[in-house]
Amino acid sequence: MKENIMIIGASGQIGSELTLRLRELYGAGHVFATDLKEPPSDVRESGPFEILDVMDDKRLIHFVIRNKITQIYHLAAVLSGNAEKLPMQAWHINMNSLLNVLDLAKEVEELHKVFWPSSIAIFGPTTPKKNTPQLTITEPNTVYGISKLAGERWIEYFYKRYGVDTRSIRYPGLISYKTEPGGGTTDYAVEIFYQAIKHGRYECFLDHDTTLPMLFMADAIEATVRLMESEADKLSIHAGYNIGGLSFSPEELAAEIKKHLPEFTITYKPDFRQAIAETWPESIDDSVARRDWGYQPRYDLAEMTRVMLQKIKEKLNK
Ligand code: NAD
Ligand code: SER
Repeated sequence: MKENIMIIGASGQIGSELTLRLRELYGAGHVFATDLKEPPSDVRESGPFEILDVMDDKRLIHFVIRNKITQIYHLAAVLSGNAEKLPMQAWHINMNSLLNVLDLAKEVEELHKVFWPSSIAIFGPTTPKKNTPQLTITEPNTVYGISKLAGERWIEYFYKRYGVDTRSIRYPGLISYKTEPGGGTTDYAVEIFYQAIKHGRYECFLDHDTTLPMLFMADAIEATVRLMESEADKLSIHAGYNIGGLSFSPEELAAEIKKHLPEFTITYKPDFRQAIAETWPESIDDSVARRDWGYQPRYDLAEMTRVMLQKIKEKLNK
């Protein structure tokens, strides 16, 4: 079957890279990018793009039918830091946008597959912190984490009750150089590169020893594509798959950056995001993803740092 793919949130940190990868794989004319805001020029110029609000269920259904959409990647959300500023609005957007998409997939026969990202934020202070298992205690205490945990329950419900082929990954903090991140707790691990190159110093909003799971964007994109292309009968999870990759603290990342920029200095001024980070795991057990669909990240801390510095220098003409 020829797939027609819709990306919701195509202008964001993940969407701006995932859209281009999916256009390579499925053909530019078959990957329909949408967002509330304008995308980077390569997303706009390489295939169809439309401004569309996922909360507008009437326009959403028209879009899906008009373009004969068979798969949706629903990436629009309010991330952890921003969600704590306006909890009820974040809950409303994160939950109702997902329910709009799931309900559509239930009603429209051709629309058979939905990707929706979960997060390490589904874990909470009572979760084992090291090598956090796929199935474990999940008692998040942030509005973002609560919305992701509820979302996992909903996507599994639609899979079991209505046969919608829902797939999901619990992304760790994602590190990329193309589009800057959108208000999360792990954003420091991107900001630090821009500040190191521009000013030679960075004031970090997390404390020096706050270890979190992270992943380079290239690995996240390949994981997403691999999961979505896997045979359905290989998948044992229709909520969210744990995936690991990197695990480091701000001081470990700073030390890696100093190998390339010896003058770089870092100071620490933890803000409200420190309390969020302290409830999340330090590292992730992704053995179920490796077994079910062959998850295998490639980038380690040294290689990720090298590529980030090189690409951001090119971007900033430094
Ligand atoms: P982002 O904030 O960079 O991008 C989200 C995009 O959604 C933005 O371009 C925004 O304009 C768009 N959007 C917001 N409201 C919308 C609406 N009503 N209609 C249409 N578009 C709307 O976020 P991201 O980092 O690309 O994250 C994408 C998804 O992955 C989110 O669900 C997020 O929770 C999840 N995730 C991200 C990370 C990470 O580190 N980036 C980690 C775990 C999970
Ligand atoms: N990187 C994301 C955040 O910090 C995790 O879901 O919100």
